[in-house]
Amino acid sequence: MDRLETAEGLKGEDPGRWGHSMANFGELLLSTLDAVDAKTVAEVGAYAGDLTAVLLEWAAGSGAAITAVDPLPQPELQQLAADNPALNLLEQTGADALATMDLPDALVIDGDHNYFTVMEELKQVGLRVSAAEMPLLLFHDVCWPHGRRDSFYAPERVPDEYSEGIEEGVGVFPGEPGVTFGGLPYKWAKNHEGGERNGVLTAIEDFVATQDGVRLAVLPMFFGFGLAWHEDAPWAAAVAALVDPWDMNPIVARLEANRVFHLANHHRTVSELSHEIWDLRGKVAGLEGRNVELEAQADSYEEILRSMSSAKLIRAADGVRKARSGGRQSWIEHIDELSARRADYKSRWRLED
Ligand SMILES: C[S@@+](CC[C@H](N)C(=O)[O-])C[C@H]1O[C@@H](n2cnc3c(N)ncnc32)[C@H](O)[C@@H]1O
Repeated sequence: MDRLETAEGLKGEDPGRWGHSMANFGELLLSTLDAVDAKTVAEVGAYAGDLTAVLLEWAAGSGAAITAVDPLPQPELQQLAADNPALNLLEQTGADALATMDLPDALVIDGDHNYFTVMEELKQVGLRVSAAEMPLLLFHDVCWPHGRRDSFYAPERVPDEYSEGIEEGVGVFPGEPGVTFGGLPYKWAKNHEGGERNGVLTAIEDFVATQDGVRLAVLPMFFGFGLAWHEDAPWAAAVAALVDPWDMNPIVARLEANRVFHLANHHRTVSELSHEIWDLRGKVAGLEGRNVELEAQADSYEEILRSMSSAKLIRAADGVRKARSGGRQSWIEHIDELSARRADYKSRWRLED
């Protein structure tokens, strides 16, 4: 690539330009899979298959088997599975699938972004293997907004004690721990950031704290790329060498903080403008109603003046008055002029409608 060639666009189908797919850091993710020499990779939470397609392309070279787990796969992912015999699609939750499937060499966790769900998935891994035998774990959404705040695809799958404070249709904004008008919109999210048992990163940290010798790295890119692995794994040093320059890299963190600020701010601005437009539309509708009332009143006054001015006596008096005033406009001429102005106004109003 030319040094100054602009970066390719965001990966995956992303009309809102959120950078929502892990495919956006695919090059680094695939390098870690190479470092592990992964023969099997599973992706929990695969959505439309944006990362899955990247994994499949990589697997075509390495011969690895790919499993995608998603209780609600998008049609694009179903099509990808239909077109690629190398892809095994499990339409289950991550926790259910991990309870029975063969554990892969590398496991991507990017399903429902809340403490309970991530912890349940990790507990399944912990029940199946010791820390030393753990697959390379790759996580998404370990930074803002889900690192320390739960969001939910399916709140009904989460027990009551984990769902306190869930709100529907809320916005979140960097640096604001509550929920806000505007900001990044979520169908379901906790109404506060931080605290115990809240957020993807909190769940991972709590799990890792129970696993001797497991290291956690947090790469602050595209909502946060997390990796956890046992430091005695044969490939541990190779993964660490890839990850170390990025782990909590302050420059990358600054870029990401700036990116999410502008993303959230864009949504806030759009919400505020939509609100103002809604408000102005209401005012215009009120003014239009008032205009119709005033027009009707003016029509009836005009009608009265017209019938008065057609009376012989008034026409005669108007003629005398005009002659005596030295040719000033008569009442009838004045009425005609007002009528013409109103007709003109009405036609313009209709044109601008
Ligand atoms: C953010 S998307 C995944 C994006 C994908 N990994 C990528 O990088 O392109 C999250 C997906 O997780 C799925 N999901 C929700 N709850 C889940 C669960 N309990 N287990 C597995 N997947 C889940 C949703 O249906 C959705 O398709």
